[in-house]
Amino acid sequence: MINRIDLKEWQALVNHQHHIANHHMRDWFTEDPERSSRYTLECGEILLDYSRNRITHDTIALLCNLAHAVQLTHQIEALFTGQPVNRTEDRPALHTVLRNQNHTALYVKGENITLQIKKSQEKIGDFVNQVHAHKWTGVTGKPISHIVSIGIGGSHLGPMMCTHALQEYAVTDLNIHYISSVDDTHLNEILQKIDPEATLFIISSKSFLTIETLTNAQTILTWMQSKLGNDALKRHFIAVTAAPEKAIQFGVPEENIFPLWTSIGGRYSIWSAIGLPLVLLIGNKNFSDFLRGAHAMDEHFRQADFAENMPVLLAMLSIWYTNFFDCKAHAIVPYTHRLKYFIPYLQQAEMESNGKSMGLNGHKLNYATSPVIFGGEGCDGQHAYHQLLHQGQHLIPVDFILTGNLSSNHSLHHQHQNILIASCLSQAQALMQGKTYHEAYANLLATPLSPSLCAELAHHQMVPGNKPSNILFLQRISPKNIGALIALYEHKVFVQSVIWNINPFDQWGVELGKQLLPNILQCIQDTGKRENTCSIPVELIHHIKNVKGQA
Ligand code: F6P
Repeated sequence: MINRIDLKEWQALVNHQHHIANHHMRDWFTEDPERSSRYTLECGEILLDYSRNRITHDTIALLCNLAHAVQLTHQIEALFTGQPVNRTEDRPALHTVLRNQNHTALYVKGENITLQIKKSQEKIGDFVNQVHAHKWTGVTGKPISHIVSIGIGGSHLGPMMCTHALQEYAVTDLNIHYISSVDDTHLNEILQKIDPEATLFIISSKSFLTIETLTNAQTILTWMQSKLGNDALKRHFIAVTAAPEKAIQFGVPEENIFPLWTSIGGRYSIWSAIGLPLVLLIGNKNFSDFLRGAHAMDEHFRQADFAENMPVLLAMLSIWYTNFFDCKAHAIVPYTHRLKYFIPYLQQAEMESNGKSMGLNGHKLNYATSPVIFGGEGCDGQHAYHQLLHQGQHLIPVDFILTGNLSSNHSLHHQHQNILIASCLSQAQALMQGKTYHEAYANLLATPLSPSLCAELAHHQMVPGNKPSNILFLQRISPKNIGALIALYEHKVFVQSVIWNINPFDQWGVELGKQLLPNILQCIQDTGKRENTCSIPVELIHHIKNVKGQA
C-alpha cells in the first residue's frame, strides 16, 4: 500500500499549504462578508462554525480528495456493517449498533449481535425501573439512595462526564459517586458520604482484570461485609463486564451481571450497560433519547457528502493542522460547566485511540498522528493558558463548545449566560483577528505615555492572530445533543485513524505499564532486605520504603 505522504492528494495539500500559509484569516473575512455562513454546517441541534480556520474553498476540496483517496466511504461502511475494523485484534467495533434502536439484525461470526444488545437493554430498563420504584432495596430493606460506580478509563469517564452533563435531566434524587484511582483517599471520602444500607456499587470493568477497579471493589466489599454481612453481595453489588465468569468468581451473583462484548471498545462503551449510572440518574426514556441523538449523528456521518459531513470536517481540519502545519496540540474549551468532564473523556477517546506510531501495514509512520488533547472549562482557561494560545509560539487549534439553554425548563440566568457566550466568541475572534503593531501603537498613543515608549510597548501588545478555532454551538444541553456530540467526536477519531492508516481500537502501549506493575508492587511490598528484582533503581525503592517506614 502506498505511503500516505506519497499520495498525490497528500502532496497537493503540501503545495496548497505553501500557497496559503502566509495569508491572514482577517483578510479573508474582509474580502468575503459571507465567509461565516459559507463555512457553517448544521446537524440536528448542533451548529459548527468553522470559518475561523486557515482554509479556503480549495482546502476543503483537497482535504476531501485525500479522504476519498484512502477510501474513507468504504471504511465507514466497514465500521457500520460489523467488519473487523479493529484489525490487530481481529474484531469489529460495534458501538454504533448499541445506539441503533431499530435493532436491525447484524450478524458477527454467525451471531445476531443485535438480539443480545436488545436483551441487555431490556435488563437495564427493568433494573432501573426497580431501583426507581424502590422495589430493588438493600439487604435491610432500605431503598437505594446512593450509587457508587467503581471503574476506570472507558469504564468511568463516559458515565462520569454524562451524569455531570445531564444533571438537569435527573428523574430521581439518587446520589451518584465515582471511584476510579486506586488512591484510597478518594475511596475513604466517598465511604464517609454514603449509607451502606442504601448504597448500590456498580463494578464496571470490561476485562474484570483491572487492578485499580478490583482493588477498590475488594476493599469496598470487605467494608460492606463488615457492616451488613455476606448478604451484601446479593443486593449491593452489580457488575458490568465482558468476563462474567470473573465477576462470579469475585462473588457477584450471576443475575446481577450486565453483559458487555469484546467488540465494544472501553472508550466507546457509554452506550452499553457501562452507562448504567447515567440511566439510573436520567431514566430509561432520557437514555433512549441519548442513544437516538448518537444514532442521528451516525446516520449523518454515513450519508452526508464529505464537505457537508460534520465528523469528516472536524477530522480533516485536525489532519490539516497536524500534518501540514505541524501542530502538536489541540485545545477543547467548553463554555459550559456541564461539559467540564468532556475534556478527560476526549483525552481518552482521541489519544488512546490515535496515539500510535505504527501503520496498519506494520511500518513505522513517517507522519504525525494524534495531537495532545488538553483544555478546560471556558473562562477559567482565559485566565490561565489562553495567553499561550494568543501569543505563544505553538499553533494550537481550539474547539470552543457553546450551549444555549441548559434544558427546556431551566430558568436562564441571562446575565451570566450572556457573558459566557460573549467571552467565548471574543476568544475565538481575538485568536483569529489578533492586533497589529499599528493598532497596538495607536491605542498606546491615546495614553499619556511618550511616543518612544509607545513604540516599544506596541511590540509586546501586538497579537499575531490567524489562530484557528471551531465553534460548536449546541442549542441546548440535552440527552439527545450530548449523545450526538459524543458520536461526532467518536467519528472524528475514526476518520483521522483512516487517514493515518492506524487502528484506533487497540491500546497496546497501555498494556506495558500493566505488565511491569506486579513485579514493582512486589518490591514495594517486600519488607525484608531482599535484593531488588524490579526495573526501578534500587536507590529510589529504598528511599520510598524508608519514608514509608517512618510514616
Ligand atoms: O486504560 C487502559 C484500559 O484498557 C482502557 O482501554 C479501558 O477503558 C480501561 O483500561 C479499563 O479497562 P476495564 O474496563 O477492562 O477495567
